[in-house]
Amino acid sequence: MIPTFNEAANIPELLSRISAAVPPGQEFSVLFVDDSTDNTPEAIEKEAVRLPIEVRVHHRADPVGGLGGAVMEGIALSVSPWIVVMDADLQHPPTLLPELIAKGEETGAELVIASRYTGGGDHSGLGTRYRVLVSGFSTSVAKALFPKVLRDVTDPMSGYFAIGRDVVSRAQGTGAVRPLGYKILLELIVRSRPRSVTEVAYDFGVRYAGESKSTVREGLRFLRHLLRLRTSGMPTRALAVGAIGLSGFLPNLAVLWALTHRTGLHYAAAEVMANQVGVLWNFVLIDRVLYRGRKHMGPRARLLSFIALANADLVARIPLMLLLVSGLGLTPLLATATAMTLVFALRFLCVDRFLYR
Ligand code: GDD
Ligand code: MN
Repeated sequence: MIPTFNEAANIPELLSRISAAVPPGQEFSVLFVDDSTDNTPEAIEKEAVRLPIEVRVHHRADPVGGLGGAVMEGIALSVSPWIVVMDADLQHPPTLLPELIAKGEETGAELVIASRYTGGGDHSGLGTRYRVLVSGFSTSVAKALFPKVLRDVTDPMSGYFAIGRDVVSRAQGTGAVRPLGYKILLELIVRSRPRSVTEVAYDFGVRYAGESKSTVREGLRFLRHLLRLRTSGMPTRALAVGAIGLSGFLPNLAVLWALTHRTGLHYAAAEVMANQVGVLWNFVLIDRVLYRGRKHMGPRARLLSFIALANADLVARIPLMLLLVSGLGLTPLLATATAMTLVFALRFLCVDRFLYR
């Protein structure tokens, strides 16, 4: 599947190299998803009749989503068990095509990435020092933001990869893949979480003809894309955590009532105990329901951290309130509301980012 935007001059060389790379007898077809304003579709049709491979062009009259949108549309149109996505400008060597798929079949990986950054790979085709820097930097940022899903991935910005049909269907099933610009691979990995990923090293070549379509604007779009991927679902989860917190009042009050009425315990001591029961209630709902699939620490560590956070919340609120009243001159009511919100937000971030992933 090859996305194209004004690549007419690359088509003859590209198609003949692809045709030469595919082993005879291999079931195989090329699908172009084209948003061009030049004669790329005609160039493709002209070349296709000369070659022994099946070639189709899907020209989009209404090109939504740029490169990422084109890739997703191409994936939706294809039915084969493996889909390889590659650029049209020969920066991605077609000779790697059979290897990408063979590697997937051998290892059982659902995603095979052609990587410039794994042993034996090369990224000098990026050209200027500036692009090398930007590419290295954005790769590091992405890996830092998604340490777990990108653990085995050295080149999450690659535009050359083979992806299994099942992963794609899974991603589409969630309806979550909303491509924004160039980094469609990152989007696919984060949204569909392939069970296993492997890589094949390659030399990222220089562009054969024409010039790159990526721009500074595309770079800014990428930052927005990262932010959106990272914060995706957060508001909903924050609401859920808040609702669970509120529901904790019920067991808290019930235990307080039982302890004061049935045991004659002093109400202050009873409230300390009842409060811990409320915390436990919250923990069970958060741990077993809301963040069920996102555990990365043992159960003991999770429980202890959760209790510590809940109690830190109680302890932090009062001094913060005092600070807001005496420091900023807020009214006690406003100060309390602000302190509660801030402390809740901090606690939510800790739960969402560190306790669970
Ligand atoms: N259909 C469609 N629509 N195709 C597009 C569009 C679009 O809006 N924009 C670009 N393309 C096509 C180009 O025609 C080319 O085949 C491919 O996408 C990559 O575009 P380039 O302009 O060559 O991008 P690049 O070389 O700067 O970036 C490539 O390398 C990056 C890694 O450095 C891409 O593969 C990126 O995804 C990759 O991150
Ligand atoms: Mn390119």
